[in-house]
Amino acid sequence: MSQFLLVTDLDNTLVGDRAALATLNQHLTAQRQNDNIKIIYSTGRSRFLYQRLTQEETLLCPDALICSVGTAIYLNPDEDKTDAEWDNKLSQNWDRELIVALTAHYSDLMPQPDSEQTDYKVSFCISPSAAKELIPRLKNVLAEKGLKTKIIYSADKDLDILPENGDKGLALQYLREKWGFEPENTVVCGDSGNDIALFSVEPCRGVIVGNAKPELRQWYQEQERDRCYFAQDFCAGGILEGLKHFSFLT
Ligand code: GLC
Ligand code: MG
Repeated sequence: MSQFLLVTDLDNTLVGDRAALATLNQHLTAQRQNDNIKIIYSTGRSRFLYQRLTQEETLLCPDALICSVGTAIYLNPDEDKTDAEWDNKLSQNWDRELIVALTAHYSDLMPQPDSEQTDYKVSFCISPSAAKELIPRLKNVLAEKGLKTKIIYSADKDLDILPENGDKGLALQYLREKWGFEPENTVVCGDSGNDIALFSVEPCRGVIVGNAKPELRQWYQEQERDRCYFAQDFCAGGILEGLKHFSFLT
């Protein structure tokens, strides 16, 4: 019996090519019947936007859902109830109100919709040129106030401010350990900046889909490559290619 933990981003990774997604779903469904496989969706979306996506695309039911760039874990994806232990880790050194007050001074930062402003994530849209100049300043301003945060820029538009204890990689690590999967039997898949944290969890296997964004391509070029596979195919096709590359699927 083979076993593996599949952790995949949604937009432009699992989702983006319907035919390829249907094929991947078939493989995973067949394999799930015999083997010890768990699937985690790890998305930047809030649970609200995740649910909207499930109405538009055919997604298998995951064993757990990581939302809002690793800052909300749902062990039962059907229930609107986050994992309390994870919430507790995120709440350390996190002062949402102060972050909102400090960031209000910058007109380049355009707040994202309310659904994406969650307990442990403050999110904006900002252009690449403004981001380049503002991110270092923002880091200083937050640090000067004693705030320990992570600033993550994705897809040349989304800027997320997260607690220091939260990101996609740390959330995956938490669930991997909880469920007892070895890193060698864990495969993460992504396409953009907020997935870099997923790929940074050593020594998990990684699949970068062929349509990856420049920030992830650049990160990949700076890494040693054997545990990360850069697929030729796009989206779910790239995931399938990567799972075969690592012999998780035949
Ligand atoms: C999703 C979220 C958004 C976030 C982005 C990048 O689009 O809805 O809030 O900024 O992912 O992480
Ligand atoms: Mg994505």
